[in-house]
Amino acid sequence: MEKVFYLPWKDEYSLGIDIVDEQHRGLIGIVNTFYYHVSLGNVDMVMVPTLELLRKYGAIHFATEEAMMKEMNYPQLAEQQEEHQALLEKTEQIAASISSENDVWKVMPFLKRFWMDHILTDDREFAECYLAFKASQRTSVANTP
Ligand SMILES: [Fe+2]
Ligand SMILES: [Fe+2]
Repeated sequence: MEKVFYLPWKDEYSLGIDIVDEQHRGLIGIVNTFYYHVSLGNVDMVMVPTLELLRKYGAIHFATEEAMMKEMNYPQLAEQQEEHQALLEKTEQIAASISSENDVWKVMPFLKRFWMDHILTDDREFAECYLAFKASQRTSVANTP
């Protein structure tokens, strides 16, 4: 069977925060579209816009998460902000380092690792805390006379 999606979405990637899951799907969708076009040889058309899009949408996504972290006074906020910033800078470095078509294939594993580590490791811990925070808010509202 022809492999269309480089990173097929799996249910286990869901963290349970709808807007965060939606944005993660969007980010993975950008990577999949990139892979699809690179596979067809459309490197020139997709390379610059894709990396630009990932950087910009990544920044919006990180701002979404950081607002949630602030909302619950997340103790790892500063650490996560640094982590997010480092990932954006790394994306820029990668974009700047591509000088030939062959370099594009080197970018793919980076993009995969970048987003999978972000979703499956960094965000899982934050999401669990945020969901617990939201649940405790609902409980305290329900208990208010
Ligand atoms: Fe995320
Ligand atoms: Fe994150």
